[in-house]
Amino acid sequence: MGTPPFRLERPAPGDTPWLEPARFWPRLTRATAHLDPPLAALDLGALAHNAFSMLDRAAGKPIRVASKSVRVRAVLDSVLALPGYAGVLAYTLPEALWLAETIDDVVVGYPTADRAAIRLLAADEQLASRVTLMVDSVEQLDLIDAVVPPRGRAGIRLCVELDSSYVTRALGHVGVWRSPVFTAGQARVLAQHIAARPGFELVGLMGYEAQIAGVGNRPRGNPARARVLDWMQHRSIAEIADRRGEVVRAVREVADLAFVNGGGTGSLESTSADASVTEVAAGSGLFGGHLFDTYSRFRPAPAAAFALSVVRKPTPQMATLLGGGWIASGPAQPDRLPEIVWPEGLSMQPREMAGEVQTPLSGRATAALAAGDRVWLRHTKSGELSEHVNEFHVVSGDEVVAAVPTYRGEGKAFL
Ligand SMILES: Cc1ncc(COP(=O)(O)O)c(C=O)c1O
Repeated sequence: MGTPPFRLERPAPGDTPWLEPARFWPRLTRATAHLDPPLAALDLGALAHNAFSMLDRAAGKPIRVASKSVRVRAVLDSVLALPGYAGVLAYTLPEALWLAETIDDVVVGYPTADRAAIRLLAADEQLASRVTLMVDSVEQLDLIDAVVPPRGRAGIRLCVELDSSYVTRALGHVGVWRSPVFTAGQARVLAQHIAARPGFELVGLMGYEAQIAGVGNRPRGNPARARVLDWMQHRSIAEIADRRGEVVRAVREVADLAFVNGGGTGSLESTSADASVTEVAAGSGLFGGHLFDTYSRFRPAPAAAFALSVVRKPTPQMATLLGGGWIASGPAQPDRLPEIVWPEGLSMQPREMAGEVQTPLSGRATAALAAGDRVWLRHTKSGELSEHVNEFHVVSGDEVVAAVPTYRGEGKAFL
């Protein structure tokens, strides 16, 4: 692990200044007044609040940090320095190899077909002992063998992924399409296959129940959908606990698993309560992208935010920001737009929304805005803001205490 440039300390109960937006955001403006937008800020108190609240929700199960939801090494290091966090769930093999220079336990959360990276992994005993690849089929093993034959290479650590979606006749496939391995029987067959092949070591099992972890059960303005989601999530939690338990028992008959990983920020309570799970994965709850405001079980603090400058006023009742097309991945819906958080009383124009290079705003707050003023926004998703800026300015109290590079700022665009 690298040495973090700042420490996260458990905040005192009730130390939640973001609940008073009229103080929180102007303080961020004052602290960063010497910097020119576009800029990204990370409030240290809010980040600490989120990190500790995730630990509380995980109830003693270690949290593996989902790096795609952060993409800032200093933040990964500061979180990993806290007891209760252990290891990284990376999103590409090149990223994992880079992180493994300083972090000794990195699981790649998705299968890889990166031949150059596989070659590097297989040629380096230390990297091979620190990095685990995700597989769900025999073809992925064949691909690795075709790049580097098993004889003479470092043993490759593998984790089998379980499809953890919720499938019913009424709803169909609810969750994400990931692994073809759904049943204990299918998992056992793949585990036996891995065990019989030289050059591989089966060390983990992962099941990510996205339909619970990644779907807020309190969608804004839609109580009917909230009821359906509560119903679905309740049943899915019971179903995945049973099925994952069976799968883990079946795979453990074949291989000595070092870990069973599950969940995400939105499911820390239920995944950690699953006896077959040894660790939970989570990342988004750290920065608190606004997609995570719609859960009944928790409310992240807005730790990461970005500021854009007002540069013109097409009418006295409008104010235009320079920049703003920072829209999130996923289904193209309004919730993928950044949320304008300060000043209050601003909205985007339906025909332009978060424009490519400028974002015109209307609303009562525009009257007081002039060129050079700044507006604060939150990204929908937690890690994607890091792809737009080279650094985060870390704010504690009234001042910037550090500037930490994003992956992008370190010249790394992994995906
Ligand atoms: C395999 C896996 N586990 C866990 C997560 C949860 O990450 P987060 O806490 O950022 O939602 C993800 C996110 O997509 C994932 O792909």
